[in-house]
Amino acid sequence: MSAILELRDVGVRFGTFDAVDGVSLTVNAGEVVGLIGPNGAGKTVTFNVITGLQPATRGRVLLGGTDVTRQPAHVRTAMGLSRTFQVVQLFAGMSVLQNLMVAAHRHTHAGVLVDALRLPGRGRALRQAEERARAVLAFLELSHLADLEVTSLPVGQARLVELARALCLTPTCLLLDEPASGLDPGETADFVALLAHVRSTLGCAMLLVEHDMGVVMPLCDHVIVMDFGKVLASGPPLEVRDDPAVRAAYLGEEVH
Ligand SMILES: Nc1ncnc2c1ncn2[C@@H]1O[C@H](COP(=O)(O)OP(=O)(O)OP(=O)(O)O)[C@@H](O)[C@H]1O
Ligand SMILES: [Mg+2]
Repeated sequence: MSAILELRDVGVRFGTFDAVDGVSLTVNAGEVVGLIGPNGAGKTVTFNVITGLQPATRGRVLLGGTDVTRQPAHVRTAMGLSRTFQVVQLFAGMSVLQNLMVAAHRHTHAGVLVDALRLPGRGRALRQAEERARAVLAFLELSHLADLEVTSLPVGQARLVELARALCLTPTCLLLDEPASGLDPGETADFVALLAHVRSTLGCAMLLVEHDMGVVMPLCDHVIVMDFGKVLASGPPLEVRDDPAVRAAYLGEEVH
């Protein structure tokens, strides 16, 4: 199997505090990997290192075997990395379709420069972006939301729109930071089914941060547990769930 994403001994230090401390992990093509751990374990900081929002203090990040440790976020996006955020981050004041088009448009070769300079090809690039955005909405059965303003959406739908926006970038690796948080049990079950559908249809690899074991267990091929910035355990979902060290780390939090 080929590694789509690899972290080698990554560390992030804030002052004297090691938020991430020597994390190594691999996500292979088409694989769904869960990244779990108690609050403050370092999961989101790890995500931010992967996407390029947070510089690593040490270690290396590789995408498809290429070292991107010093590459900015947009280069990594162009290499097939796409994410959703723990707290939904959509562009307020814009419709669902416009939110998706921004992502799809950045992804086209024409992109922002052609747009800014009003060069020929701008109209075509916008049409392509709209086509892509509408296709993704149809794929996720969200076409009926296209013209709604994003801040009018309940959290369940906003999370789906964020997923749709991430898919507009045609990712080979999708990073999902607590995508089911704020969803009720019914919405969560639908979301799990949807991610399984995305996986089987698009075949993109996923790294999934999630507290809800009802999401992690059915979706993940492999689970990595973080605690205090380090990898505490790593393995098949059932094995990791039953690991006494993992259970101890979650003391006071429920692991189902
Ligand atoms: N910019 C920062 N400066 C200083 N400390 C930070 C910064 N960002 C995160 N931290 C700290 O790093 C640690 C890891 O944070 P992180 O957000 O990665 O946790 P997490 O595993 O995602 O937790 P949660 O499950 O609550 O989302 C926390 O103690 C957090 O307070
Ligand atoms: Mg987090």
